[in-house]
Amino acid sequence: MNAIDTVAWFVYLLSAVMFVIGLHFMNSPKTARRGNLISAAGMVIAVIMAFVRLFVTGYRSTTAIVLLLLGILIGAVAGVVSAKKVKMTDMPQLVSIFNTVGGGAAALVALNDILTPQTAPSLVVLITAGLGVVIGSVTFTGSLVAAGKLQGVKFLRKLTIPGKGLFNVLFIVLTVASFVMLCVQPDRRLLWAVLTTLFALVYGLVFVIPIGGADMPVVISVLNACTGTAVAMSGLAIDNVALIVAGALVGAAGVTLSILMAQAMNRPLHSVLAGGFGGASAATSSQEGPEGTMKETTADDVAVQLVYAEKVIFVPGFGLAQAQAQRELADLGELLKAHGVEVSYAIHPVAGRMPGHMNVLLAEANVPYDELVDLDDINPQFSSANVALVVGANDVTNPAARRPGTPVSGMPILDVDQAQHVVVMKRGRGRGYAGIENELYFEDNTQMLFGDAKAGLQAVIAAVKELLA
Ligand code: TAP
Repeated sequence: MNAIDTVAWFVYLLSAVMFVIGLHFMNSPKTARRGNLISAAGMVIAVIMAFVRLFVTGYRSTTAIVLLLLGILIGAVAGVVSAKKVKMTDMPQLVSIFNTVGGGAAALVALNDILTPQTAPSLVVLITAGLGVVIGSVTFTGSLVAAGKLQGVKFLRKLTIPGKGLFNVLFIVLTVASFVMLCVQPDRRLLWAVLTTLFALVYGLVFVIPIGGADMPVVISVLNACTGTAVAMSGLAIDNVALIVAGALVGAAGVTLSILMAQAMNRPLHSVLAGGFGGASAATSSQEGPEGTMKETTADDVAVQLVYAEKVIFVPGFGLAQAQAQRELADLGELLKAHGVEVSYAIHPVAGRMPGHMNVLLAEANVPYDELVDLDDINPQFSSANVALVVGANDVTNPAARRPGTPVSGMPILDVDQAQHVVVMKRGRGRGYAGIENELYFEDNTQMLFGDAKAGLQAVIAAVKELLA
């Protein structure tokens, strides 16, 4: 190893360490921002080192350098603009688009490693780069479809694949067969690499198209794991320690997250990937609702209940994010606390559309972290709460999850119905993500405050202020 390679190795190791430290800080919302900055700094160092190495070892083409710089510029601008503009509710689509470009880039790096050498690459390079091509290509098309489905592109939502998984099996077999041929016939690597790429691209489509919308965030997390694995494989092929570590971290984080999300929805990961939940929920959406009627209430009534309560638990859900009403909820919390009411926020692990969704929203509204309480810790507290105020949360509060035979059966829920009084804020009688009626809304101790969450909370705040004046 010459001097520049040794320096590069240590610098890449340093950036890998920074990725790990960054991830560690992301464990808590308090330190997550710092964690992001440390990881980003690690990435900047790695990119600068790659350029230094290129110049020291003598770059072959000025065009390549210009193209690389142009790529970085376009990527940086797109990253900054999307991070600033994209709404929290659209974050899963953005992650999916990032997976698309990550998977595509990893596949291109691997293809370059297979096709550009004059002589046939070694078996190790063929295997690692070949895997990079396969996984990266599947991720590319799969993530593109996932992003489109989440964005509600009609054509994709309606698209089905006939044959009940037959095409999945067919394209897995074709992809694996051409990958094996690539390894055993390196002299014909152009043909086999092209076929492997094409079959893997088509497999990405037939893998994701049948999966229902409700499972899409889990699929995105799985594809995120695939992006990481593809990047690690490309790193192995070009012997770049920063890529190997970064890819392995993303891969491991993606797998862990997928498993946790599937557990929080009480759905085995393999059944999510086989498709069905979204379809099942649509099928059950026409089922008859629970017995009884919903009782409507007014903002003035809710204000009275809140002001005279000793303990109030807020239960935010996807509707809060949709309405961008986090600041209003935080303001209401501050008003009540100033009046001596104990306030906490119940956080379900899959409330919203991605893990940590509620934590990030509420942190943005400066809700103190210690008021955000996880499912296991908050559930025993509902029975001593005077009021549970549910804001745009549905499935995660549905008592139907406690009995078998419903699409949400077995999903851990917030025991909102145990509170003395329950107030649910939502726009109307729309169902939650799972597509079923919520039995909570028909309980004797539940009242509905219909309307957009933001406008509803503003009305409640005004009424509380009037009462306290
Ligand atoms: P949902 O079950 O999706 O319910 C959200 C409710 O908010 C809807 O019933 C809707 O009713 C209401 N809403 C929508 N816009 C509103 C607005 N502007 N103002 C007031 N209310 C509004 O949400 P949830 O309870 O948070 O549950 C999340 C679901 O997503 C679960 O089924 C979960 O399994 C699934 N999921 C989550 C994840 C992760 S990781 N978070 C991943 C995959 C799937 P109206 O239309 O009547 O207003």
